[in-house]
Amino acid sequence: MRKLVAFTGSGISAESGLKTFRDSDGLWEQYNVYDVATPEAWHRNRKMVLEFYNARRRQVINASPNAAHVALAKLESKFDVEIITQNIDDLHERAGSSKVLHLHGEIMKAQSTLHQHLVYPIEGSELNEGALCERGSQLRPFVVWFGEEVPMMRKAEEIIAQAEIVMIIGTSLQVYPAAGLVRYAMPDSKKYYIDPNPDSNIFLGNTEVISAKAGIAVPELVEKLMEDN
Ligand code: OAD
Repeated sequence: MRKLVAFTGSGISAESGLKTFRDSDGLWEQYNVYDVATPEAWHRNRKMVLEFYNARRRQVINASPNAAHVALAKLESKFDVEIITQNIDDLHERAGSSKVLHLHGEIMKAQSTLHQHLVYPIEGSELNEGALCERGSQLRPFVVWFGEEVPMMRKAEEIIAQAEIVMIIGTSLQVYPAAGLVRYAMPDSKKYYIDPNPDSNIFLGNTEVISAKAGIAVPELVEKLMEDN
């Protein structure tokens, strides 16, 4: 089977009702990233950080995968598909995708603050002060904050470097190192970039830019790729 990698950002979940970050009504318009998504914020005001992610988690639980997530899952019948997502939601998994790598962590999991290898699923929507790992340390959301390492980066680079086809969906490509991932794709791989407001500076070669919403454009492209394959 031909290897296809989809690199997704918050735009793919927009039509499921989850806000993006940098659009005019995005999360970083509403919140100061330094107040809620940095190690400093955690040390300063743990309660506020936990509440921010509890609110995100409630929204994720109430959201459903949309046509774009579902189409990517369907592609697995014809292609060896790997999803690399910057999203912390679990909508790719709930749509049925079997290989999903989360670069920025997973909102439905908690991580020990002292023993980083201890990661647990969160039952329900709330993670609060006093929730401890098995060794007695406070649990934090299992997400990557600004200023932290992105531990899955190397693995993601290896995966995208093997792809014959790359789909880049719903991301402004503003946040590094994640945005730099596309540079690891083979120069002659076929690339599609689907975003209603694509980053005009993208210059990858062999790239077809589709300026449209994921919910419409991804199922159409998937249909075409399945017919051609
Ligand atoms: P951004 O908010 O930076 O970009 C969202 C992109 O989605 C924009 O390019 C929009 O044009 C596009 N978009 C909006 N609606 C769409 C739709 N219906 N279909 C397809 N695309 C649509 O979000 P990301 O690029 O995901 O990191 O941001 C990357 C990282 O920045 C996030 O993972 C998060 C954030 O800060 C951390 O929290 C570490």
